[in-house]
Amino acid sequence: MTKHIGILTAGGDSPGLNAAIRGVGKAAQNHYDMQMIGFLDGFRGLVDNRSVRMEGDMLSDILTRGGTILGTSRDKPHRMMFGGKRQDMTNVIVENYNSHHLDALVCIGGGGTQKNALQLMEKGLNIITLPKTIDNDVAKTDTTFGFDTALGIATDAIDRLHSTAHSHHRIIVVEIMGHRAGWLALGSGIAGGADVILLPEIPYDLDTVATAIRDRVRSGKKFSIVAVSEGALPKDQAALVKSAEKVAAKAKDKDARKEAKNEITRLEKENANHTTTLSRQLEELTGLESRVTILGHLQRGGTPSAADRLLATRLGTACADLIEQEQYGVMVAAHGDNAAPVPLIEVAGNKKLVPPDHSWVISARNVGTSFGD
Ligand code: F6P
Repeated sequence: MTKHIGILTAGGDSPGLNAAIRGVGKAAQNHYDMQMIGFLDGFRGLVDNRSVRMEGDMLSDILTRGGTILGTSRDKPHRMMFGGKRQDMTNVIVENYNSHHLDALVCIGGGGTQKNALQLMEKGLNIITLPKTIDNDVAKTDTTFGFDTALGIATDAIDRLHSTAHSHHRIIVVEIMGHRAGWLALGSGIAGGADVILLPEIPYDLDTVATAIRDRVRSGKKFSIVAVSEGALPKDQAALVKSAEKVAAKAKDKDARKEAKNEITRLEKENANHTTTLSRQLEELTGLESRVTILGHLQRGGTPSAADRLLATRLGTACADLIEQEQYGVMVAAHGDNAAPVPLIEVAGNKKLVPPDHSWVISARNVGTSFGD
């Protein structure tokens, strides 16, 4: 019997999404004679029942393209704005899945998508997911597609910032994406030779950062590059967030949990312009001029690297194999050279953060990089 599969991309876009769609689709059609439809704009398209048949040329000429041909959104099935209010739309999704006579639904996304996918699995749908995000923070997979491309872009940016920082004897504070996980700032900071790397996982002390920069000046290096994650926090702020998180985890009822989560959001908002603040503070403490560069969505755009195309193709084709074997409720994870199914329940709700004693951190410290701790 011909299997019918649906596919969607959800959450922030990342390079390699089209390569993954192509990998799943070509293997499903050429190898297993399955039929595939794509839902547009993430879970939103599944609710609105907006879909396209993925046949003919739809899967050609997309391997090297950035973004996603299906579109994406950050909509969550159980809390979606619909008819002017937030509603649980999971039952509508189940109806639409059934109306297309789907045997499986492939959800390609990051941490949020894994959680949303688990909820649909719990509604009885045959779900299989693929891990993408430039943040590289999905649990139970060695890596995610999108990360390698973003790593290259951020490293190239740091390389370019070096020559201007050096010429003007300035500090350049470069903000790199990653709210909770600092993999991108860490990787590009090491590869680009940043002098200071600040991560959400290692709260920093402002004076320690300033001392590291002043020490460089004393040794004749009158410029410094500070690579800072979006979500990096000074120690006092980090302690406040941690205690709000503890309150949220321990909260006995919905209202108490909501209150604690609001407090976390408030603290995050307070920290929103921290890169600019940090730059100004470093100017005052070191006497050097400082400039800020925010890399932003440049890190997510454009053509995927060869490594991301390869990873997305490997995981995508493995996904088709698993559908053929009717292995559902899993994420197709990268394990070394292999792709392995991991139960979604073990992935959803868990983030892969940078362990402060990770080998990359140790290597960076050994070449003299300061983490400001
Ligand atoms: O999750 C990927 C990511 O790029 C994060 O690094 C970043 O904090 C966030 O998305 C930005 O989201 P948006 O593009 O929706 O503003």
